[in-house]
Amino acid sequence: MKEQSKGIFELTNLSRLFRYVKPYRSLFYITVLLTLLIAILGPLRPWLTQYTLDNYILNSDKKGLLVFSALLVGILILQSLIQFFYTYQTNRLGQYVIRDLRVGLYKHILKFRMTYFDRTPIGTPVTRTVSDIETIADIFSDGLIVIIGDILQLIVIIGCMIYLDWRLTLICLSTVPLLIIATNIFKNKVKKAFSEVRTQVAALNVFVQEHLSGMRILQVFNRQNEEMNAFKNINREHMKANIKSIWAYSVFFPVVEILSAVSLGLVVWWGVGDVIDDRATFGTLVAFIMYINLLFRPMRELADKFNTLQMGMVSSERIFDVLDTPTGQRTEGKHTSSNIDGTIEFKDVWFAYKGDDWVLKGISFKITAGETIAVVGETGAGKSTIINLITRMYDIQKGSIQIDGINICEYDLNFLRSKIALVLQDVFLFSDSVYNNITLDDSKISPEQVEESAKLVGAKEFIDKLPGGMEYNVRERGTMLSLGQRQLISFIRAYVRNPSILILDEATSSIDPESEALITNATHVITKGRTSLVIAHRLSTIKSASRILVLEQGGLIESGTHEELLLANGRYKRLYEIQFQLTT
Ligand SMILES: Nc1ncnc2c1ncn2[C@@H]1O[C@H](COP(=O)(O)OP(=O)(O)OP(=O)(O)O)[C@@H](O)[C@H]1O
Ligand SMILES: [Mg+2]
Repeated sequence: MKEQSKGIFELTNLSRLFRYVKPYRSLFYITVLLTLLIAILGPLRPWLTQYTLDNYILNSDKKGLLVFSALLVGILILQSLIQFFYTYQTNRLGQYVIRDLRVGLYKHILKFRMTYFDRTPIGTPVTRTVSDIETIADIFSDGLIVIIGDILQLIVIIGCMIYLDWRLTLICLSTVPLLIIATNIFKNKVKKAFSEVRTQVAALNVFVQEHLSGMRILQVFNRQNEEMNAFKNINREHMKANIKSIWAYSVFFPVVEILSAVSLGLVVWWGVGDVIDDRATFGTLVAFIMYINLLFRPMRELADKFNTLQMGMVSSERIFDVLDTPTGQRTEGKHTSSNIDGTIEFKDVWFAYKGDDWVLKGISFKITAGETIAVVGETGAGKSTIINLITRMYDIQKGSIQIDGINICEYDLNFLRSKIALVLQDVFLFSDSVYNNITLDDSKISPEQVEESAKLVGAKEFIDKLPGGMEYNVRERGTMLSLGQRQLISFIRAYVRNPSILILDEATSSIDPESEALITNATHVITKGRTSLVIAHRLSTIKSASRILVLEQGGLIESGTHEELLLANGRYKRLYEIQFQLTT
């Protein structure tokens, strides 16, 4: 029952995969046609050989021999040509299909809401879009069509053999039951070994990827030896899995060779007797010897092709799994307007990342347009979470968030986000030029704007000093820049968009006094004249804010100006003393 339902499941996956073939229907039909031609042309040669032998060679008919030899050569050339087109077209089809599939998959992944990435290790979508898809191409180039071709060819060959001499055919096929048993054992062994190989490849990938990113930690803490041991273990498992599949192949192929040799021996032994007794012609015997070779090749390869197909099906199942994962509801309104003022209001907002673990517990506050508000609180209080909510990276469970008096869910999401600029706690830079990291490929931003913003933010000087200036490639995650420099770039990124609302999550880590001065100045520049919500860790930012909100364990416990809050002698005062007293 279980096997059967799995079979049906694979069929639905296969038909779903074939939807991707639709745009290339004509190409597909061509490959099927070529398959048919190959299936017919292959078995034709032994037949012609038999005919030539019996009718021309044994009768010493030189003219007929010449004609038929030419025919044989012609067929051979034609077959090679068809084989070439066939290989080329099937592979092309496979590549087209996976290109479209990959685009569809990436498009889907881009739509996933943050909750998906919270639950899924980043390696998963990476392996799906990169390597899993590759095996799907094999379904077309090396699996399905080839299997159909091979089966067809087997049918044609056996048909020809029966037509020539049914008794010799039976003798020839007498080893087939053994072959089927061997094939089955092989198929199961390889399937198991392959799935193990895939698991080990994934493990190796994840390990190397993650640990190379953390190289600095490994070296500083002298973990190289332990690292080597862990790596050796994973690598050993990887090798073992591969050797298992190699073993299956090395045993299976000689077994097929032996079986085909046995068939050959039997045919020769029996056939020679027939020829002597005049029950069969010499040509038939030669044709049968050729057929045995033709017959066992597809039989041997079928087992392998079925594995390829199976692997491809496993991969497509995984990919359809991702495609079937809902991206998360994005209830989005249509509201847009020419501009927004930037009034933000939280009304009794409750939010949990998952279940009942409330991270924000009934928060209410209002920021009037143009005001700069600072949010302070201990680590884990829920400050960065507020940002995630305003930009709708996550949706709240209770309460409402309004911008300009309109619930943020009613805004067109792209419009809403285009009005908000973010500077995040940990800056993320792509391995690209400084310029592209600022514009993020937004063609509406002109080079002049970027220059101007860089100057105003106070980052022009250091950018100009970089080799190539704006064109300098910051490498993966901006490793070629200092922390302060990376932050300044993210300031320009926000400033150049001239947002109505600016949200700044100040980095917790402190930087050198010189960069600190630059950042302080930049903060001042980008918050000026627009609604700003600053999650503040610097005293200067806190002091220049028109109001301070104090957050504790997801609740808003105090609010007011710096002086008011100090006078109130409450939580803020203690926070202030712990964080800043010693440094001021
Ligand atoms: N993606 C997430 N999934 C689940 N829980 C999360 C997620 N992000 C944050 N949290 C939890 O939410 C709480 C608030 O986190 P948040 O990042 O808002 O703190 P914070 O006030 O910004 O702290 P810090 O000052 O250290 O940046 C923490 O307890 C954290 O564990
Ligand atoms: Mg934070």
